[in-house]
Amino acid sequence: MIERTFSISVAEYDQISELALADRELLLRAVDATKTAYAPYSAFNVGAAVRLSGGRIFTGSNQENSAYPSGICAERVAIFAASSQCPGDAIEAIAIAASTQNFELKNPVTPCGACRQVMAEYQNLSGKPIRIIMKGMSGKVWLVNGVENLLPLMFHAESLKK
Ligand code: THU
Repeated sequence: MIERTFSISVAEYDQISELALADRELLLRAVDATKTAYAPYSAFNVGAAVRLSGGRIFTGSNQENSAYPSGICAERVAIFAASSQCPGDAIEAIAIAASTQNFELKNPVTPCGACRQVMAEYQNLSGKPIRIIMKGMSGKVWLVNGVENLLPLMFHAESLKK
């Protein structure tokens, strides 16, 4: 037996202003999208903004449901809107922001496993790394270049083939 170690890389910024202009603008769109969240059950408002290779931006927010599992995260709302309206366009970046009135969210919000798997699907389709930019209400901003930095050992469609 050997033990193998896999590492991930996360860029950490003190301020939004340190980001490249396009990433900063995308993150601000995600912050704006938190205002459209329908989150009466968790009071945790998440916004996401996706930038496509053609330059178009799609936003989304979490949409909850009284039957809890029927709700969906902000990231998938934005990604599915982008893919259904611009099929085949590569996703260059997705920014994610969150806010709640219940406490000060100081850490960047990181996507759930299901959303990471969905990002992996579209990254594998285009073959180009997706930049994922994450922010809380205050504190640091995190940026990863490529879904593999959020989802090591991810499931690939190739695994379905002989
Ligand atoms: N949520 C998102 O929309 N994105 C995330 O990255 C984390 C969680 C939503 C799901 C649910 O509506 C609420 O936040 C609390 O989990």
